[in-house]
Amino acid sequence: MADRILITGANRGIGLEMTRQAAAAGHQVTAACRKPDKADELNALAADSGGRITVIGMEVRDEDSVRAAAAHVGGLDLVVCNAGTLNARGGLTDPGHTPENIAESLMTNIAGVFFTARHFAGHLKGSAAPRIAVISSQMGSSERAGTTAPIYRATKAAATNLARSMALELADDGIAVGAYHPGWVQTDMGGAEAAITVEESAEGLLQRFAALGPATSGVFETYQGEAMPF
Ligand SMILES: NC(=O)c1ccc[n+]([C@@H]2O[C@H](COP(=O)([O-])OP(=O)(O)OC[C@H]3O[C@@H](n4cnc5c(N)ncnc54)[C@H](OP(=O)(O)O)[C@@H]3O)[C@@H](O)[C@H]2O)c1
Repeated sequence: MADRILITGANRGIGLEMTRQAAAAGHQVTAACRKPDKADELNALAADSGGRITVIGMEVRDEDSVRAAAAHVGGLDLVVCNAGTLNARGGLTDPGHTPENIAESLMTNIAGVFFTARHFAGHLKGSAAPRIAVISSQMGSSERAGTTAPIYRATKAAATNLARSMALELADDGIAVGAYHPGWVQTDMGGAEAAITVEESAEGLLQRFAALGPATSGVFETYQGEAMPF
């Protein structure tokens, strides 16, 4: 069945590859990114997609931007909250952690998910299989705690927690919500030495989203369907 899908952060990395694969599989994709004019790869993909990909502008930290984007989008079956940022990789003494980029991380990785769900959940009404997928990370799992990137870890712990809360809040509307670890992926964020390609990650994630429904709502799992500890 062809789904109508919104993907945030669709101009590069995992978001771009999910857009590519979903459109190739026949789904209708609204690909959101914050600078559509500069999204060359995504725009080329959209131009070649036979109308399956529509590119829209959306800065997930800015609720007005999310609200304005939502006003231009019709009915959806799946919302993928993928946009994310990693502010600094070191621990407490890493000077890369600044008040400004900590605020940006909190607003992107947590509030961005909240704003996206807040303004697009209504678009799922009328769908036969309404779903919201939050791209979190195993780095947000408290059972997988580590010594790197503590702010990023905290934002992803919050994103997973938010997915659980939304799963409960939206259950009466029949909307299923899941949180996903995409693997350690070869992207700008994951780095060239990461374990898997964007193709592997996106393929697995899209399969997991297809399996998401009321019976599995609230799940936190990997792109391969393995349960993640919270
Ligand atoms: N790569 C990994 O190993 C890995 C592992 C676990 C989880 N994840 C998660 O997977 C998701 C995708 O990561 P990735 O590896 O594809 O990262 P990436 O290559 O760095 O791409 C991040 C995407 O998010 C967008 N973005 C960032 N801040 C945004 C904002 N405020 N508003 C709108 N879009 C914004 C970026 O847009 P711009 O181009 O405009 O910056 C870009 O499209 C993220 O949530 C990340 O935390 C990744």
